[in-house]
Amino acid sequence: MFELMDEWGPEKVVCVSDRRTGMQGVLVIDNTARGMGKGGTRMAPDVTVQEVARLARTMTWKWAALNLFFGGAQAGIRYDPASASKPDALRAFARALSNEVPAEYVFGLDMGLTEQDAAILLDETRTRSAAVGTPEALGGLAYDRLGVTGFGVAEAADAAAEALGITLRDARVVVQGFGAVGAHAARRLADLGATVVAVSSARGVLHEPDGLDVDRLLRLRDEHGDDCVLAYGTSVGALGSELLLPCEVLIPAATQDVIDADVAGRISARLVVEGANMPTDAAAQEVLRARGVAVVPDFIANGGGAVAAGFAMDARHSPFPVQPEPVFEAVSRSIRANTAEILGRTLAGTRTSHAVARELAQERVRQATKLRTGLLV
Ligand SMILES: NC(=O)c1ccc[n+]([C@@H]2O[C@H](COP(=O)([O-])OP(=O)(O)OC[C@H]3O[C@@H](n4cnc5c(N)ncnc54)[C@H](O)[C@@H]3O)[C@@H](O)[C@H]2O)c1
Repeated sequence: MFELMDEWGPEKVVCVSDRRTGMQGVLVIDNTARGMGKGGTRMAPDVTVQEVARLARTMTWKWAALNLFFGGAQAGIRYDPASASKPDALRAFARALSNEVPAEYVFGLDMGLTEQDAAILLDETRTRSAAVGTPEALGGLAYDRLGVTGFGVAEAADAAAEALGITLRDARVVVQGFGAVGAHAARRLADLGATVVAVSSARGVLHEPDGLDVDRLLRLRDEHGDDCVLAYGTSVGALGSELLLPCEVLIPAATQDVIDADVAGRISARLVVEGANMPTDAAAQEVLRARGVAVVPDFIANGGGAVAAGFAMDARHSPFPVQPEPVFEAVSRSIRANTAEILGRTLAGTRTSHAVARELAQERVRQATKLRTGLLV
């Protein structure tokens, strides 16, 4: 466990288990220099402490880059989210963390958790303060269903296109992953006038050089989920092929580590906007920089969910329902400004946009630490 630690954190790691349900879980509070630890709660049968710690660190940088006053944290539950006993595992996890929640951590949504699960966590802890991402009927902000993160990814793409002199109305866009992030990003980009030429899900790749009918795809997704690409009616290509298709804007919005140095050397896009967490590795980021391909890093582009979670944190203490409009306005404003600032600094220098964005976030965390302790990190 000590190998997880460096100068930034984590400050606290709590491992819990429950013999009755077989639930195993972990809470990682990474760095609270700028505020209490906040980040999602993930459930997967193979989730690891290392993975949760990495996500908690990403949250530290994401909050700092957004200039919102929370610290990084993340929770993980090693359990099958498709299991019928999922509610029992959630309740066991909530009971095991009764010392930390809600004083030091508030449950949130991540892979494997839904609004309904957030409601169960809230019920078990008997306080509205314990979870965000809860259903509207419980006074929450259902930010995954509203598509806030995907909306923000599209805003990042639009702001980056502007900075690079790409006309989005003439641009071809490829979206990898047609889930909560990818589908809403595609919808917003189509609304902004871009031509979405390809989308994929874990079931395959749909490519239509003249442009896909995104509204129709969204309706098919409601009906068929990931099989929407099969239901669309044209031939479906192999997974991964979409990354190399001719386009101006590429949005990886599926999963991590999909663009390595080899793929980075062959993509045709001029702009990559990272909807997913960690879709490019460090070598790929260097190759893209050397080829003059602009990249909006994950913790800049996909911060929309975090902004929404910030609103939801406030809503826990209010009897008034959260209105979505101010949330979308705040997401658009902060993601556009951040994207323009990071790309501006990157284009003026010789480092990758990830290095530039991380440095900005680290500087803010370092300053907060210094103010609290009078010491440099
Ligand atoms: N949901 C959010 O608010 C949010 C916020 C920040 C970051 N993210 C990140 O965005 C990514 C996607 O999250 P999501 O919430 O949209 O998940 P999701 O489960 O709703 O959707 C994922 C989509 O990707 C597809 N997919 C999976 N593997 C694929 C592959 N190899 N090729 C093509 N498609 C594939 C799935 O079929 C699905 O359509 C993850 O990296 C997540 O950590 C999500």
